[in-house]
Amino acid sequence: MQRISDKLKAAGKSIGLVPTMGYLHKGHLSLIKKSKSKCNITVVSIFVNPTQFAPNEDLSKYPRDIKRDKKILTAAGVDYLFYPEADEIYPSGFQTHVEVENITKILEGEFRPSHFRGVTTIVAILFNAVMPHYAFFGQKDAQQAAVIKRMMQDLKITLKLIVCPIVREKDGLALSSRNVYLSEKERKDALVLNKSLRHAEQLVKEGERVVKKIISEMKKIIFSVDTSNLDYIGIVNAESFEPVKTISSKSSYYILIACKIGTTRLIDNILLKI
Ligand code: PAF
Repeated sequence: MQRISDKLKAAGKSIGLVPTMGYLHKGHLSLIKKSKSKCNITVVSIFVNPTQFAPNEDLSKYPRDIKRDKKILTAAGVDYLFYPEADEIYPSGFQTHVEVENITKILEGEFRPSHFRGVTTIVAILFNAVMPHYAFFGQKDAQQAAVIKRMMQDLKITLKLIVCPIVREKDGLALSSRNVYLSEKERKDALVLNKSLRHAEQLVKEGERVVKKIISEMKKIIFSVDTSNLDYIGIVNAESFEPVKTISSKSSYYILIACKIGTTRLIDNILLKI
């Protein structure tokens, strides 16, 4: 991959990387489209990264279908698929990890303590393997994007990171590879994530500024279905990712939610600008 990238760069081509774990959906396609509009060459990586899954999580049952993914990538006009094996990325003797210290402790980090260490390590490796000019990530994993931005700032990684908007089904469910796990009822119940976020947005529009109150209203919607099991709702400053107690018109914020519907853990968020 590095040799290919070197050649492309020597020929004056700009390279965009879309890192994925496969089982591609329209959310990934929106990142690919953005990369194709900005860069001469688009590389998609598919790697279900074991180090970002805890032992009790869904690594072995994470959906995989490389044949289907390859067809999707060909139809989307992607130039290269980077599809390494786990032992190429983590050969025996591997012992280096990248860890961002503070913003990885809250929200996702509180419920998945080793997750971001795995993400930043693989993303640093993917950046070094593909050596892109641009990398494209989805806003659905807003905390992941913030953690990667922090890593890039701290390690002086100078490629440009582009965060693309969440792609949703018509009824508002954020696209995710994990949506395939939902039963028919759970698929309907899963709409409470987006509904609660929209409700919060409305409350803020109407003048509510107290985070505790907004969250307690959101919880009513989440708990209106019997399949929901909430991990967290958080409201953070969009720049620093620091949790806040009140909303002010001077900043923008993320409202973030992680909730199990049945046994499927879903996340969603909105960017709030007043
Ligand atoms: O967002 C994802 O799919 C993964 O966390 C990523 C960035 C590909 C790293 O494995």
